[in-house]
Amino acid sequence: MHSSIASFQWLLYIFTVISSLQVSATRFNIPRLSPTRGTILQNPEILSATISEDFQTFYYNQTLDHFNYRPESYSTFQQRYVINFKYWGGGAGADANAPIFVYLGAEGPLDGDISIIGFLTDNAARFNALLVYIEHRYYGKSIPFGSREEALKNASTLGYFNSAQAVTDYAEILLYIKEKFNARHSPVIVIGGSYGGMLATWFRLKYPHVALGALASSAPILYFDDITPRNGYYSIVTRDFREASETCYETIMKSWAEIEKVASKPDGLSILSKKFRTYFVVLQNFFNMLCGGIDGAALGTDNDILSKIFAGVVAHEGNMSCYVNPPTIESETTVGWRWQTCSEMVIPIGTDNTTMFQPAPFNLSSFIDGCESLYGVSPRPHWVTAYYGGYDIKLILQRFASNIIFSNGLRDPYSSGGVLENISDSVVAIATINGSHCLDILRANQSSDPDWLVTQRETEIEIIEGWISKYYADLKAIK
Ligand SMILES: *[C@@H]1O[C@H](CO)[C@@H](O)[C@H](O)[C@H]1NC(C)=O
Ligand SMILES: *[C@@H]1O[C@H](CO)[C@@H](O)[C@H](O)[C@H]1NC(C)=O
Ligand SMILES: *[C@@H]1O[C@H](CO)[C@@H](O)[C@H](O)[C@H]1NC(C)=O
Ligand SMILES: *[C@@H]1O[C@H](CO)[C@@H](O)[C@H](O)[C@H]1NC(C)=O
Ligand SMILES: *[C@@H]1O[C@H](CO)[C@@H](O)[C@H](O)[C@H]1NC(C)=O
Ligand SMILES: *[C@@H]1O[C@H](CO)[C@@H](O)[C@H](O)[C@H]1NC(C)=O
Ligand SMILES: *[C@@H]1O[C@H](CO)[C@@H](O)[C@H](O)[C@H]1NC(C)=O
Ligand SMILES: *[C@@H]1O[C@H](CO)[C@@H](O)[C@H](O)[C@H]1NC(C)=O
Repeated sequence: MHSSIASFQWLLYIFTVISSLQVSATRFNIPRLSPTRGTILQNPEILSATISEDFQTFYYNQTLDHFNYRPESYSTFQQRYVINFKYWGGGAGADANAPIFVYLGAEGPLDGDISIIGFLTDNAARFNALLVYIEHRYYGKSIPFGSREEALKNASTLGYFNSAQAVTDYAEILLYIKEKFNARHSPVIVIGGSYGGMLATWFRLKYPHVALGALASSAPILYFDDITPRNGYYSIVTRDFREASETCYETIMKSWAEIEKVASKPDGLSILSKKFRTYFVVLQNFFNMLCGGIDGAALGTDNDILSKIFAGVVAHEGNMSCYVNPPTIESETTVGWRWQTCSEMVIPIGTDNTTMFQPAPFNLSSFIDGCESLYGVSPRPHWVTAYYGGYDIKLILQRFASNIIFSNGLRDPYSSGGVLENISDSVVAIATINGSHCLDILRANQSSDPDWLVTQRETEIEIIEGWISKYYADLKAIK
């Protein structure tokens, strides 16, 4: 099919609309995971300015390589973390051993997350908690090798950019903070969303002496090594569309053949680029809006499927002026996550004929080829399950783990790789039917949050409260 490359390009554009992802220059792009997916963190400086004075920024002299004793492993870099002392009752305060809530940074600069993640600030007063936010290495202001350019230069410098180093960074900083603020017995609760939620889970499993418990929001820890079917992600996208509108679903399903047909015409590409002139950055809750637009499309003739799709995009994005080509400035997340997926975060997402998309199976060998040509090193698709586990999650964790909440919104495509069943009394799954990606840890809004979201958050906080009181009882008994 001579048009397949061209139509694949457009397929990617549509995928962008549909799955809230940024188009990448590479064709082996694994959707990034971030609680702040709608927010483009191109300019952290501006975002920093919106954070209130209650947040103080610090830098920790972090070790480059925690796992080797070679001389170069001892190099250090400045790692950023932010503390909010406003509610803190521990340390020298009246409420000794008050808890510490920690947001574990994910695949982007910390700046954007601080104002968006509400779970910490919304619950701090109830616990007199200290709030800590730690930036992930190689993002934002936490860059080794002196500059981003050096750090991202090649696989030799990128090699220290991985999840094991990142969670160990968090452990070091938290041990330091506990020491510094006289909080040795303060229980630590780690909180993360998406990739950060995976880090929170793994942190609790690896560092039980540092964190008492973890809230892992929308963490697809099972989307590795084919534990989850490869079409899981787009099956949920498909279901979301069907629920929002059956006609919308059918319109999109039919559009693929139409795109093929138009693209194969001599002038096909220019016709297509007139239809889809927008570079889309997609926001939350877009399904209804997008499909609302498609159902109500008055553009063109009734049969003009491409116009309907375009109308859907306009309904969602506004009729923005065009980017025929995606922007050339890539966000730190796009660049960083590309390395992460090309090394250990190999999340095999593909489509087959059970979704509303053209079948585009995940092809591991072409994925590996692409990564090798970019970085000269090969991804390790089995590493995450070898190092952290994942198979037989219930069988394994019910006898080993404790104090983890896996929260998911079932409208979130990544919930397909999440833990959705209770594993034990304290390793629990809290899912909401209409919830979306990381919704529970975003800032609460009393006037607009639906009851089920309020209930979900209350359930989570009560569970955490239970862990903390049990911990205090144990502490008292031991002293
Ligand atoms: C950071 O730690 C390294 C190694 O421990 C040390 O050589 C260096 O002086 C420290 N830098 C700062 C700014 O404390
Ligand atoms: C990466 O760059 C450094 C500095 O230029 C060089 O010494 C090193 O050999 C390079 N590594 C690879 C894998 O190309
Ligand atoms: C979008 O804008 C273009 C030109 O600015 C206009 O021709 C077109 O009708 C608009 N489309 C919609 C759906 O509003
Ligand atoms: C989907 O593909 C499978 C296997 O390739 C085939 O058996 C099945 O008939 C196909 N279903 C549809 C609806 O095309
Ligand atoms: C996967 O990609 C490779 C090229 O890297 C190609 O040779 C192979 O045919 C592809 N497999 C499938 C099932 O498409
Ligand atoms: C798991 O247990 C929690 C707390 O006991 C409960 O709220 C939740 O509904 C349970 N989840 C499932 C999937 O049964
Ligand atoms: C989820 O949303 C649908 C459609 O908006 C609604 O009909 C349903 O009652 C909701 N379910 C819950 C559990 O909130
Ligand atoms: C809460 O939601 C309402 C209604 O959507 C909105 O007008 C208001 O600005 C929101 N408040 C905050 C603090 O975000």
